[in-house]
Amino acid sequence: MKTYSITTPIYYVNADPHLGHAYTTIVADSLARFHKLSGEDVFFLTGTDEHGDKIVQAAEKQGQSPQEFVDTISARFQALWPSLGIANDRFVRTTDPAHKQVVQDFLQKVYDAGDIYFGEFGGHYCYGCERFYTEKELEDGLCPQHLTKPEFISEKNYFFRMSKYLPWLREHIAATPDFIRPERYRNEVLAMLESGALEDLCISRPKSRLTWGIELPFDKDYVCYVWFDALINYISALGWPDGADFARFWPGEHLVAKDILKPHAVFWPTMLKAAGLPLYRHLNVHGYWLVRDTKMSKSLGNVVDPLQMGRSYGLDAFRYFLLREMHFGSDASFSEDALIGRINADLANDLGNLFSRVLSMTAKYFGSIVPEGRGLAEEDAAIAELCATAMRNYSQLFGHVQFAQALESLWELVRALNKYVDSQAPWTLYKQGNMERLATVMLVLLTAMRKIAICLWPVMPGIATRMLEQLGQSVQADSAPVASLEAEIGDFDGLQPGTALAASSNLFPRIEKKDAESGNSKNSTGKALRKEKNRAEARQGQATAPADTTTQAEAADTTSRRPEIDFEQFKAVDLRVGTVVVAEKHPNADRILRLEIDFGEGTPRQILSGLAEHFTPEDVLGQQVCAVLNLPPRKIRGLVSHGMVLTAQDGKGLRLLTVSGAVDNGAEIA
Ligand code: MSP
Repeated sequence: MKTYSITTPIYYVNADPHLGHAYTTIVADSLARFHKLSGEDVFFLTGTDEHGDKIVQAAEKQGQSPQEFVDTISARFQALWPSLGIANDRFVRTTDPAHKQVVQDFLQKVYDAGDIYFGEFGGHYCYGCERFYTEKELEDGLCPQHLTKPEFISEKNYFFRMSKYLPWLREHIAATPDFIRPERYRNEVLAMLESGALEDLCISRPKSRLTWGIELPFDKDYVCYVWFDALINYISALGWPDGADFARFWPGEHLVAKDILKPHAVFWPTMLKAAGLPLYRHLNVHGYWLVRDTKMSKSLGNVVDPLQMGRSYGLDAFRYFLLREMHFGSDASFSEDALIGRINADLANDLGNLFSRVLSMTAKYFGSIVPEGRGLAEEDAAIAELCATAMRNYSQLFGHVQFAQALESLWELVRALNKYVDSQAPWTLYKQGNMERLATVMLVLLTAMRKIAICLWPVMPGIATRMLEQLGQSVQADSAPVASLEAEIGDFDGLQPGTALAASSNLFPRIEKKDAESGNSKNSTGKALRKEKNRAEARQGQATAPADTTTQAEAADTTSRRPEIDFEQFKAVDLRVGTVVVAEKHPNADRILRLEIDFGEGTPRQILSGLAEHFTPEDVLGQQVCAVLNLPPRKIRGLVSHGMVLTAQDGKGLRLLTVSGAVDNGAEIA
């Protein structure tokens, strides 16, 4: 069985986890799941980096001992991950006794090989980076990362003969194109290696200056430099040198942001080489999440809490956004507006809508049972082919850490399926009694939807599981839904006729932007305005709110007459017939149905209508109805209505206006 292992950086425990940490860990989790879905034996490692000056300083600030402090924050990281849907196999801490032992064994091995020596050294030390800078590396005398003046420290220390391995490293990187990816970071490292700025690495700190670290096995007056200690986590967690996991999962892949490129691309491979160990396979490097064009930082107060985002917008939608929005390698901007935009466009409109309309139609036409298809027509075969292409691209791009592009290729399929629904018009086939063709169309849609759900499991494990359950598939929590993604790409099948499906689906309710509509009513509008709004909604969407009772009574009044209008006024009203292709309850308003109606305009129109007390969604689905189309769009409880369905109401109830025989969608009413 092919094995795969992926790591995140082990995070410093000097502050609470934020969006940046969550992103890397969610990406690692998605990669781990992707490889499980490909049938591989997977190991996913994360953890915390707990030694060094920074930690001691942060603990002091809290009035705690370093150990108490690291225990508290490390526990917060550990507790966070399951709440973000992350299923790591191991959590490593650099204060674990087993890790300390491995670091000492590693140091001893390199020392015995003659690659560690004792010497006097003076350097510019940045406490933020926990490292010495050479004169050449400083920018205007400042640390290039923190823009602070480093302290010049001169002391006796131990050094790793890194410079000995730099020519070899340069060769290796030049000969192995995807060792560091994307390419821009590979080029950055090559430039670093060619600049001549790199020297031997100071790997100790005298205990007179710092005691919070791992003691050097060959000198008890020194502790190990925190980066040398931390990088070794990647093999200590696997039980190097003799552990079965080391034999099974090393070498693996690493995932980091560009801030820690150098330790991973230069220190770590040379350390491995000196210890006689195989190099990792890939170093995957991503950019920063920015908030209003600035890197997130606690001191700037622009830190985004990933848990809060997951709670407010749905964990899976948040995970999708992170992978879709950031082009791996480049920086990306985080904003709630961008998050809401993606949720509404990609998830609610495209994906959620597809599931909702296809499952409702299958409920109406086939009693929620997967029908038997009768051979593919040309347009069905085109969908099958697009499905295979989209899945193949998705799989290749995902494996090469191009998540945004991978998801985009899958969405080409999602959007094509929505168009296929429009072009095949199952409601017309149903009206015509063409059940054979209807069965094939629905089977094509359902088959492709199952494939999409499978592909999405690495990114949105919870939602993908729900999608598969709605499609009558049995899925076990946290195990891959199929054993081989590759096999799924080849065949356009997988759904057994006769399988029972969910009758409806509401995976992603649309989200209202914070500053829109309802927020305003609090500040600027009083009760009177709110009431006026309810009336307006009631007129247009025959809405819902408690204040509408008078309006409903008015509507039921069959005797009062309106003033005369002229013919031109009547002609100005755009009255049309259309077929209801999606019908579901409004997520935030009990009395309203959300309809999508095909008026022959290419894409169906969303109209909200106060029908829910009189009709179920299934009652109206597939019906031809009459509507006014040229009213201004109106927002009702977060959703926008683009028209008004005509009804007739009397004391006994409410009826829909329909036509006496089928007409083309969009036919004018005159
Ligand atoms: N302890 C070291 C890593 C040692 S690994 C052997 C460290 N820790 S850290 O807590 O500072 O984590 C840095 C990592 O957190 C980045 O490489 C990245 O994975 C993640 N991120 C922190 N802030 C980030 C952004 N603003 N944007 C994207 N990722 C960010 O360095």
